Amino acid sequence: MLRVENTPAQTTAAFSPALLAEMADMVSRYPGDKQKSALLPILHAVQAEQGWLSSEAMDRVAEYLKIESIEVYEVATFYTMYFLRPQGKYVLEVCRTGPCCLVGAEKIMDYIETTLGVKEGDITPDGLFSWRGVECLAACGFGPVLQIGPEYTFYENLTPQSVDQLIGDLRIKANN
Ligand code: FES
Repeated sequence: MLRVENTPAQTTAAFSPALLAEMADMVSRYPGDKQKSALLPILHAVQAEQGWLSSEAMDRVAEYLKIESIEVYEVATFYTMYFLRPQGKYVLEVCRTGPCCLVGAEKIMDYIETTLGVKEGDITPDGLFSWRGVECLAACGFGPVLQIGPEYTFYENLTPQSVDQLIGDLRIKANN
């Protein structure tokens, strides 16, 4: 990959002072030769500020930690909690693993798609919602189940009615 050398100011230009301070604090918790161990929390912080992880943001994180961009990409693409494309304000993550499918997870995903009017990974026109299927959320006895980050609030035993209620509540919350 072609790497462009930037000055520190250019490297971090798109990150807010608050984010940079948070990143510095995270890095300071590790000894000098282990500072790339701060990669996961730094990616969380970047995503919390920017809503997703663009390749530019990941490149900046790599430069900040003095590691190769591919190391950041490998981590960001491995963990499903990192978003590699823009998302709605609320991301409904529905478990699509076997036990939840046995109790209707696929029908719930179909219902969410119809209700929101967007395909998996897309954003509603008002910018409020995205949805996607994810692997087991460790609530297998309470399926179908979904979670909504960044607090990762769980909603269990989903039905079309409870999905309607949830989406309605989130619309009200977003408008207040
Ligand atoms: S299979 Fe859905 S939470 Fe485990």
